[in-house]
Amino acid sequence: MRKNIVAGNWKMNKNLQEGVALATELKEIVSNPNCEVIIGTPFIHLATVSELLKDSVIKVSAENCADKVSGAYTGEVSAEMVKSTGAEYCILGHSERRAYYGETYEILKEKVQLALANDLKPIFCIGEVKEEREAGKQNEVVKAQLEGSVFNLSAEDFGKIVLAYEPVWAIGTGLTATPEQAQEIHAYIRGLVAEKYGNEVADNCTILYGGSCNAKNAAGLFANPDIDGGLIGGASLKAEDFKAIIDAF
Ligand code: PGA
Repeated sequence: MRKNIVAGNWKMNKNLQEGVALATELKEIVSNPNCEVIIGTPFIHLATVSELLKDSVIKVSAENCADKVSGAYTGEVSAEMVKSTGAEYCILGHSERRAYYGETYEILKEKVQLALANDLKPIFCIGEVKEEREAGKQNEVVKAQLEGSVFNLSAEDFGKIVLAYEPVWAIGTGLTATPEQAQEIHAYIRGLVAEKYGNEVADNCTILYGGSCNAKNAAGLFANPDIDGGLIGGASLKAEDFKAIIDAF
């Protein structure tokens, strides 16, 4: 059966000392969760936080990696480098990366392949913007995002990916998709995976919801059959808030 996961996405928050403090606090309060717990941190935290959490139940993720193997790409961080820190996951295709850093389907396809080649598990984000939702195009959008960047993978590699449905209009806005809206599109996404890779791969695929998920709405979202946890931004920055979402399972 597929895993339930609660993953934090710190984004560009917390300096190294603040990040270490938060990870230390989480290590103390998160034990025996009914789901896998991941924290996604900025690159500079990865090595320290991975070492700090190595005997805990909490796993560590990067928030991005380069679309190139190595070499003259000043300022970039490769998937191999991420792996060498002890991180196990890598968030890819976040809507902020797509919108502000021009990450196209093609670029993301490269990043996903490099992450997998370096034994990192991608948490691949998809989701529509407000205008697309209002025009009823959300299904088309997520289908194109999957076809453009991950449906080229073998079934074996696809099986290593976690998907995160994050409606862009719900990210950081306080607007959340209703559990019904989220369940509907998660079921659609699982259906697309089943068409492409068959029922077994689809059944085993963890699909997270993200977008203003918090301690109050998490249980209602996670109660749905196709919602296997959350990718949490703002509410992952305080240990108590994040713990309360983990406890929703
Ligand atoms: P949010 O962000 O929880 O702050 O809305 C979620 C995300 O962008 O992953």
